[in-house]
Amino acid sequence: MTDAGRYTAMQHDHYENSDVPSEHVVGHYAWHEEFPYETLLLHDHGDLRYPVLPPERRRRALDFGCGPGRMIPRMAKFFDQVDGVDIAPRLLADARAVVPASTQLWATNGDDLGEAPQEAYDLVYCTVSFHHIAVWDVRMQILRHMQAALRPGGVVTLQLGYRDAYPWVPVPHATYWTDAPMAGTPRRRLAARALERLGVQTLTSEGGRTTGFYRADPAETALQLMRKDHQHASWRDNPYDATSTNSGMDATISAETLPQVAEDFRSVFGNFTCWFYDVSLAFADLRGASHPSDHWHTHWIFLHARRPAD
Ligand SMILES: C[S@@+](CC[C@H](N)C(=O)[O-])C[C@H]1O[C@@H](n2cnc3c(N)ncnc32)[C@H](O)[C@@H]1O
Repeated sequence: MTDAGRYTAMQHDHYENSDVPSEHVVGHYAWHEEFPYETLLLHDHGDLRYPVLPPERRRRALDFGCGPGRMIPRMAKFFDQVDGVDIAPRLLADARAVVPASTQLWATNGDDLGEAPQEAYDLVYCTVSFHHIAVWDVRMQILRHMQAALRPGGVVTLQLGYRDAYPWVPVPHATYWTDAPMAGTPRRRLAARALERLGVQTLTSEGGRTTGFYRADPAETALQLMRKDHQHASWRDNPYDATSTNSGMDATISAETLPQVAEDFRSVFGNFTCWFYDVSLAFADLRGASHPSDHWHTHWIFLHARRPAD
């Protein structure tokens, strides 16, 4: 089995052989149901004046990682037909109960679009699914399949999470720190002294891999200790041995890695654009629940590309 195959087998097991009711696979389901996905998937920068497809091009769409089919009836209001693909047949079976009769559903291998036809779609979209694939090689393979599934002139809009420092997240109690990127600089010595005064324990890097660093605020009067944990993969990481998915380990996008995302989309589609939606305040109150605000993404980011017309 290849490394990528090992990862997708773990994903398949996670989604298919779980006791979690399919609706709960979509965390905060009710919140997502109130989110204006149609506006953000179908309009450049979510601006209603700039639809990504003219009305006559809203023929057939494909929902990647459709799960229990939550978005398919919503998008079917705009398209003649909306199909779905997902790694988990049990979720597709639940989707069948809520999607229109015309919808075709296919199970995938985890790195493809299953039996979905090529050059057939005006839009391929995803909501809260692509970032759950932590391995870059797998995501790139899926992007190539998406490109092949589009009609000439067709578009993709994919939702992921963004936070400026991802995959680095703040350390809650400042007891975990290494500083390889800053090694030897006056800033590092300054930081080390400040940390000593704070009684902070500093650790060396693990196996030569940097596992944390400090971040000074713009005035350099405070130090924020950051670490990369098991829940966050950088855009181009390949954590083949991840043991969890669906927020167990997610692919992240940050200010530093967004140029890599652009480069990767351009390598597949020849073009790229993206837009943001700030959720940093909304996540403090998700209908009574909350996402830890200093850990979760601050924005949804919608990645968009077009297959050039022939
Ligand atoms: C959080 S659920 C979102 C479901 C749906 N898109 C929604 O917005 O309600 C994530 C979905 O992504 C699917 N998924 C995760 N990894 C996948 C992969 N490698 N290939 C296809 N589907 C995948 C899961 O099976 C699951 O249904």
